[in-house]
Amino acid sequence: MTLRLPSSHLCWLLVLLITVVLVKPTLATDACQGIAAVVSNSSSVYYPGSLPYIGDVSHWASSSSQNATCSFEPGTAEDLGMALNIIAALRQPFAIKGGGHTTNPGFSSTTGVQISLSRFSDVVYDPEAQTATVGAGLTWDTVYTALEPHGVNVVGARGPGVGVAGLSLGGGYSYLTNQYGLTVDTIEAYELVMSNGTVKIVTKEDEDLFFGLRGGFNNFGIVTKFTLRTFPQTQVWGGFITYSPENVGLLNQATVNFAANTSDPKAALMITYDYFLSRTSLGPSALVFYNAPTPPAGIFDEFLGIPSLVTNVSTMSFPALIKLSMANATYGSRAIFDTISVLNYSVPFLNAVVNETVFWGSDSSLGAQFVSYVIEPFLPSLYNHSSIPSAFPPSRCDGFTPLKIYYSWANETSDSAMHTAIRESTRNLRQLSGTSEAPLYPNYAIYDTPLEMIYGANLPRLRSLQHCVDPENIMGLTGGFKF
Ligand SMILES: Cc1cc2nc3c(=O)[nH]c(=O)nc-3n(C[C@H](O)[C@H](O)[C@H](O)COP(=O)(O)OP(=O)(O)OC[C@H]3O[C@@H](n4cnc5c(N)ncnc54)[C@H](O)[C@@H]3O)c2cc1C
Ligand SMILES: *[C@@H]1O[C@H](CO)[C@@H](O)[C@H](O)[C@H]1NC(C)=O
Ligand SMILES: *[C@@H]1O[C@H](CO)[C@@H](O)[C@H](O)[C@H]1NC(C)=O
Ligand SMILES: *[C@@H]1O[C@H](CO)[C@@H](O)[C@H](O)[C@H]1NC(C)=O
Ligand SMILES: *[C@@H]1O[C@H](CO)[C@@H](O)[C@H](O)[C@H]1NC(C)=O
Ligand SMILES: *[C@@H]1O[C@H](CO)[C@@H](O)[C@H](O)[C@H]1NC(C)=O
Ligand SMILES: *[C@@H]1O[C@H](CO)[C@@H](O)[C@H](O)[C@H]1NC(C)=O
Ligand SMILES: *[C@@H]1O[C@H](CO)[C@@H](O)[C@H](O)[C@H]1NC(C)=O
Ligand SMILES: *[C@@H]1O[C@H](CO)[C@@H](O)[C@H](O)[C@H]1NC(C)=O
Ligand SMILES: *[C@@H]1O[C@H](CO)[C@@H](O)[C@H](O)[C@H]1NC(C)=O
Ligand SMILES: *[C@@H]1O[C@H](CO)[C@@H](O)[C@H](O)[C@H]1NC(C)=O
Repeated sequence: MTLRLPSSHLCWLLVLLITVVLVKPTLATDACQGIAAVVSNSSSVYYPGSLPYIGDVSHWASSSSQNATCSFEPGTAEDLGMALNIIAALRQPFAIKGGGHTTNPGFSSTTGVQISLSRFSDVVYDPEAQTATVGAGLTWDTVYTALEPHGVNVVGARGPGVGVAGLSLGGGYSYLTNQYGLTVDTIEAYELVMSNGTVKIVTKEDEDLFFGLRGGFNNFGIVTKFTLRTFPQTQVWGGFITYSPENVGLLNQATVNFAANTSDPKAALMITYDYFLSRTSLGPSALVFYNAPTPPAGIFDEFLGIPSLVTNVSTMSFPALIKLSMANATYGSRAIFDTISVLNYSVPFLNAVVNETVFWGSDSSLGAQFVSYVIEPFLPSLYNHSSIPSAFPPSRCDGFTPLKIYYSWANETSDSAMHTAIRESTRNLRQLSGTSEAPLYPNYAIYDTPLEMIYGANLPRLRSLQHCVDPENIMGLTGGFKF
């Protein structure tokens, strides 16, 4: 499918260009007005003060929001292509937002043109192909809920509110990853608006772009739809167990045993060590998951046997389990993530993670409202569900797993102290993990992580692909990890 720019729009673009180039310096406002003038009535441009604008620029972490000159909600891929043509001609900064859950400042925000994909919101299930084509403006919980009546599901985020787009374009770890792989391993096709405005359906036949989109975010254009493989979905068993700090030793031993002994791909586990400065104590918890209404005997017995504060575990629908996530507790705070990758878990290592949690969480001079360290053990075979190469992970030989570090705070004046602290803690744990060479997950890695540490040996191929499909580096006008 190829876009042809109607000639009336081309004329308009020419007039606009001549006006702004000859008469006055180019401003983002010119791009906003130019976009509003060429797009169809399916799309809209909004300005500060309007309600849609406020939604378009807002993010899960307030430190990821900026006041854009205008926001643009494309209603069709063709309109988005025309908008990119104008942005390119005027070389104005812009941002692309899916679910707005990145914690990296400027990755999906701008002072220029904020593009919000919220109007790409359809879920179309194809029972024959066993796929679902979903809009890039959706969040995963909405997709799960839409597919539930069909008895099928897709491989996506473990919490509510997370965008389909950013998670899919960076990798995607799910409760279903042990069974089916990363989200990127389940994508059959992308509808991509390229930087020159052309709309293209990218499948595995298009080897290079397909490789690049599997982990390469916005470097190759803007994705408007994803076609995902679907899998049968029954009710699931799972939920939260919270423990008092005295029992963290038992929890750590249970976690090490689980990681060493559990080979059932339907089982998943997430251990979180929280520290709220206001509560002045460590809050350890386990999220247990089994992809069936009842787990086989034994798998989670150790976690259920440790004395707990709250055990909220039962059989429920998949979307209901996703809603149990506590991740929205810090919605609207300032926040940053960083990460290390881990191959194996030992009790001394988990004790060191607990020590980091308490050390930084209780440092009142630092003033983090909340710090959180999340252990995500997966099976060593987690990367063996795809034989097609992907931008991320750059290597599928070792079953490294992501450890997420997450700080949140209230005041902008603390941003740089928090970034410094999270880097130091990350460095401490990386030394102890013994796996400093493993690739880092780009959806958790802090904004200035060297690209080599994420994409490894794939970097030269990604760079040359970027030059080839976007020779004028138009996608360089937007934020993110740039090839
Ligand atoms: C509460 C919470 C829970 C999370 N849970 C998980 C989890 O279970 N598993 C997991 O793997 N990760 C998880 N993450 C991390 C998550 O994958 C990233 O934050 C991801 O980037 C979010 O996608 P988004 O669309 O919401 O982000 P956005 O901030 O909208 O976008 C992130 C990046 O992707 C780019 N982008 C967005 N849309 C497009 C598009 N259509 N075309 C091209 N580029 C685009 C943006 O420009 C930006 O650089 C979680 C994060 C949070 C905050
Ligand atoms: C949008 O434009 C189309 C044709 O260009 C027209 O048929 C339709 O009525 C318009 N819709 C609205 C809501 O204005
Ligand atoms: C955006 O503008 C609003 C209203 O003027 C202001 O309150 C807010 O602080 C600004 N946000 C940023 C990130 O600059
Ligand atoms: C998170 O909280 C905010 C603010 O209360 C709310 O607007 C948003 O809908 C919540 N998101 C989810 C996924 O519950
Ligand atoms: C599980 O793994 C641990 C090693 O971490 C081992 O000591 C233990 O005996 C194994 N078996 C069970 C049932 O936990
Ligand atoms: C479990 O979670 C649900 C939903 O949040 C809540 O209504 C219920 O009270 C919780 N149960 C326990 C035992 O905490
Ligand atoms: C992983 O295993 C290796 C070899 O057994 C060991 O040296 C290393 O300390 C372990 N790492 C962790 C984090 O336990
Ligand atoms: C706990 O972490 C801090 C900060 O990294 C470090 O200085 C201290 O030595 C650690 N303590 C233990 C017992 O490991
Ligand atoms: C996964 O695949 C890689 C590369 O093909 C291989 O080296 C590794 O042994 C496999 N791991 C498992 C657990 O099957
Ligand atoms: C943020 O910190 C600065 C400097 O410490 C202080 O002046 C300001 O009042 C704080 N703002 C808020 C909202 O707490
Ligand atoms: C845009 O770029 C693609 C790939 O480089 C090319 O196939 C297409 O013809 C270009 N479109 C236009 C309108 O130049």
